[in-house]
Formats: sequence, structure tokens, C-alpha cells
Amino acid sequence: MSASTAVADLEDLQARAVAAIDGATTLDELDEVRVAFTGRKSELADVQKTMGSIAPEDRKVLGKALNAFKTEVEGALDQRRAVLEAAALEARLVDERIDLTVPPAAVPPGRPHLITQTEQAMVDTFVALGWRVADGPEVESAAYCFDAMNIPPDHPARQDMDTIYLQDGRTDEFGLPEVVLRPHTSPVQARVMRTQEPPIAIVIPGRTYRNDTVDATHSPVFTQVEGLVVGEGITMAHLHGSLLAFARAMFGEDREIRLRPSKFEFTEPSAEVDVSWGTNPDGTTRWLEILGSGMVDPVVLSWCGVDPDRFTGFAFGIGVERVAMLRHDLHDIRDLYEGDARFSAVF
Ligand code: PHE
Repeated sequence: MSASTAVADLEDLQARAVAAIDGATTLDELDEVRVAFTGRKSELADVQKTMGSIAPEDRKVLGKALNAFKTEVEGALDQRRAVLEAAALEARLVDERIDLTVPPAAVPPGRPHLITQTEQAMVDTFVALGWRVADGPEVESAAYCFDAMNIPPDHPARQDMDTIYLQDGRTDEFGLPEVVLRPHTSPVQARVMRTQEPPIAIVIPGRTYRNDTVDATHSPVFTQVEGLVVGEGITMAHLHGSLLAFARAMFGEDREIRLRPSKFEFTEPSAEVDVSWGTNPDGTTRWLEILGSGMVDPVVLSWCGVDPDRFTGFAFGIGVERVAMLRHDLHDIRDLYEGDARFSAVF
């Protein structure tokens, strides 16, 4: 091949390369053009291969033309690349622009769970009577849960069947190894009586634990609201009046309560309290049990350092889940614990 033919080919190639470079609309496209015109299998490579078959005196001419081609094409590539890079940056800036005026996606507002709402409403009814709120530990000593509450060592409630014992080596404040998840809020009665002089009027909301199998009415974790009033001349009439106020505040001003004899180790006498719930088919009042109560047993007062000859008191414990279920006509305690947002959204 003659040098002039090669140079003519090169000029033609350069014209096509520059046109292709200017026509590239993206950086990827530009790279494809670069490979096609200057890569190892390009027409430029073909021209370079002809170098060998050219007369030595002509090689200088072709070499010059090749250098000119490279300068020209590289210049065009650089220029185009700069334009496309600027365009890509501009596009990205537009694309990623954050519009601070767009309102945020709606986040549904949270609210206290029904158990918390019910617990607060229950506590409020006693705070309205002038009582104070007290609390105590959920990991509690058997001494406070049982001994202070006059529950003897062989009582079934103490056994593993009902009470969850912690066997992690810890001991209570008396150095005793019997540490439990409290099965009721009653130990807080003892904690308060041991540290405060009567008159005492407290309401104790809190979580409690029992080794129960989950079903529609049982949960191993549940919630109680405990009440304790200790003073001179406190009688069962005060218990009745307080719980009547509670029942009316929670279930309706038309409600009545009824006390039925019962038994707890820590109260004497003890009473289960029913609330009126409409009428039976035969016209008699229908009653539903809502809590356990009684006059604080003198043995409990003594254990706690309160003089039983001078002071008397009453106490009660109410299941919060049961009150929530009665107030909202729920039939499965599991609904309160499964955390389904659709359930919670109703209340
Ligand atoms: N602690 C009792 C229970 O959990 C309830 C109760 C409290 C009864 C106070 C009487 C007085 O079943």
C-alpha cells in the first residue's frame, strides 16, 4: 500500500471518528466509540499494521499522519467527555435534589396500650380519693411475697406450680436465696408499711407473673392494681365505700357492688367483690367478680412493724386485664398481649 492511500484512509477515518464522538450522547456511548475507532481491533489498528508494507522513506509521512490522527481524536474525545460529564453531573444534581417543601409521609400517632390506659384509669379513681401511688420491684424476695403476707412455707401458691422462681444465684436483702418474679403486687404493701408510718393510703399498679399456661383467660404476665389503707379506726365500711367509688368510676354510676366471704392468708376477714352487671333472665341482678379484698391480717401488720392494737387496714388486688376485658367486651386475654397494631388502633 502506498503512503498516500493510507493517509487518505486515515483522514476519512478521522472524519468518521470525530463525527461519532460528537454524536455520542452518554459517557458509555463515548467509550464504545473510542474502542471502535482506536482499540485493538479498530480500523486504526488496520492502518497501523500497513506500516510494515510501506516503503521506508514514506513511513515518516504516515507516522506524522498517525500522530495527527491521535492528537485530533484524543482532543475530540476529551472535549466530548468533559461535556458529557458536566451533563451527567447536572442530571444527577437535578435527580437527587431534595425538595424540603414536600410534606413528610404520614406517621400514625402512637398512644398508650389498652392495658396502660386501663391501669391509669384505675389508678386515677383512687388518686381522686386522695391516695398516693407506690411501686416496688418485679423481681422480689419470697419473704416479701409470702412470709410478710402470712403465706406459710407449704402453701401451694409458693410452689413452682404458680410462682416463677429465679435460680440465678442471687439472694434477697435478707441474704435468702428465694427470689421470684412476684406473683402479686401485695409484697409492695409490706415494703410500704415497713418504711412509712400510718396513716397510709396507697394504690400500687404493676406487672405480676405466674407459671400459667396461656389461654383465653390466662397469661403468665399480667397486671394488678393493689390498694392499701392503714390507719386508726379503718373498717370494712371504708373498704366498701372505696371500692364502690372505684366500680362506679370504671363501669358506670348506676353500679352496685356486693362483698362475698372469701379467704386470703393476708386478710381477715376476706371478701371477693362483685359488680352488678345488668339482670339475669329471671329478673335478678347479675353479678361479676372483679377483685379480692379484705381487712389486713394483724399478723401482716406485725410482720411489717405496724402496731395491730392501734391500727387496722384494708387491702385489695384487682386484675387490670380483667377490667379492660369487661369494659370493652373482650373475650381473649391474648388480644392484649399479641401486639397486633390493628387491635391497638381500636382503643
Ligand atoms: N394478692 C391477691 C391476689 O393476687 C389479691 C388480694 C390483694 C386480695 C389484697 C386481698 C387483699 O390474688
